[in-house]
Formats: sequence, C-alpha cells, structure tokens
Amino acid sequence: MAIPKIVEAEFILSAPKPEQFPKGIRPEVAFWGRSNVGKSSLLNALLNRKGLVRTSARPGCTQAINYFLINQIWYFVDLPGYGYAQVPVAVKEKWLRLIATYLENRTSLRAVVLLLDSRRLPGAEELEIISRLRGWQRQVIVVLTKADKLKKSQRSRQEREIATRLAPGGIEEFIWFSALTQEGRRELWGRLLSVLQGPAANPGAASRLDPPAGESGER
Ligand code: GTP
Ligand code: MG
Repeated sequence: MAIPKIVEAEFILSAPKPEQFPKGIRPEVAFWGRSNVGKSSLLNALLNRKGLVRTSARPGCTQAINYFLINQIWYFVDLPGYGYAQVPVAVKEKWLRLIATYLENRTSLRAVVLLLDSRRLPGAEELEIISRLRGWQRQVIVVLTKADKLKKSQRSRQEREIATRLAPGGIEEFIWFSALTQEGRRELWGRLLSVLQGPAANPGAASRLDPPAGESGER
C-alpha cells in the first residue's frame, strides 16, 4: 500500500474534557503509550512534519487529548502518556479517566496504536491496557519504538520475549519503528490505511462523546 501524500497536517485542538472533542464524523486513530515512549516523535515522522507535535526529552510533555486533522479527512489523536512518576496522583487519575472515557466511547475511533519501547519488556500495566482495549472492542496495533537503539541481532530475542509477555492479550504482531531512521513508516501506514479506509470498527458503540452537529469545533 502506498503511503499517502500528506498535503495537510494541522493541529486542531487540545481537549482536557470530553465535551471538547471534535464532532466525530471523520475516522480517527489514537496513539498511546508510556510517557517518553516516542509518541509525538512517531506522529511527526508519520506525517513528515518536524515540529507539528511537541516532543520533549522531559517525560510528561503531552497533557491533554490532542487532535490533528490530516488531509481534511482523518484525525490523528495524541494521548497523554501513562506511567510518568513526576505527575501528581490526582492529575494522573484525571488524565486516565479522560483517556478511558475517550477510548470506551468514541464512535469514530477506528484503532489504537499502542507504543512500547522496544528496549523494555511490557509489564502488567500494558497487559491491563490491552485487555481493557479488547473489552471495548478496540483494534490494537502494537508498535515497538526506538528500533534504532537495538542491534538487528538483539531484535529477534527481544521480540520473542515481548511476544511471550503479550500472548495473554492475544497480541502476536508488532511493527518495529524508528522516528530517527523512518523504519516501519511504510508498514505502519499500511495498517493505518486499512483501518481508516475500512468499515467502522465499533458502529454500535455509545455515541455520547460525539456532540450533535453544530455544537462543537467541527470545521
Ligand atoms: P510524552 O509526550 O512526554 O509522554 O513523550 P512522547 O511519548 O511523546 O515522546 P517524545 O516523542 O517526546 O520522545 C521522547 C524522547 O525519546 C525524545 O528525547 C526523543 O528524541 C526520543 N525518541 C523518540 N523517538 C525516537 C526514536 O525512534 N529513536 C531514538 N533514538 N529516540 C527517539
Ligand atoms: Mg508527547
């Protein structure tokens, strides 16, 4: 599948509350992972836009649900990373509630790209997330980030171990990705296009997060 030409990639809004999500008529994919896993860098690499999404050496940079409008037809959604120790518990819980509400209810959400640092082994937290996503009937695309940090020779072993850990969640397939070398960009775009252009993933889901026409930031 050819990578689409990104004619337009525009930051639309940062939503700290569900009422502020755009009206959900465009197919969208969300990107989630541990804080500092490389979400914002991956989005910039996918979209060929260096500074579109703020990246940072300091974890916890992304603090609300950030919407980007791509070629006028899709939304890409950058979620706040989980697991950042420096964030006060109350704030963390508020983010998690917002994210859970979003992931559970957003009708136009076609898939969740879950990012895992390729150098780490996923733990109970990741399995819990995958199981919740499955419970909400979400398609999960698992991406192993910062692939450039591992030698090719280390990869097959690492991949086997990650696969073993994620087996209870039914995840068998991964995309190795590097924002630095652009490795995995074509493969990930292939998966994204198949969900964005395919049938709606969750047509029966409650739609209370999609405000009626004319009420929100639809543009
Ligand atoms: P938060 O929004 O703060 O949770 O982080 P994030 O997941 O958006 O991560 P971000 O893209 O800001 O990247 C975090 C750090 O990892 C930065 O220092 C990036 O330069 C680095 N990084 C991201 N992707 C890659 C990659 O593919 N390879 C390498 N070597 N470094 C990367
Ligand atoms: Mg970020």
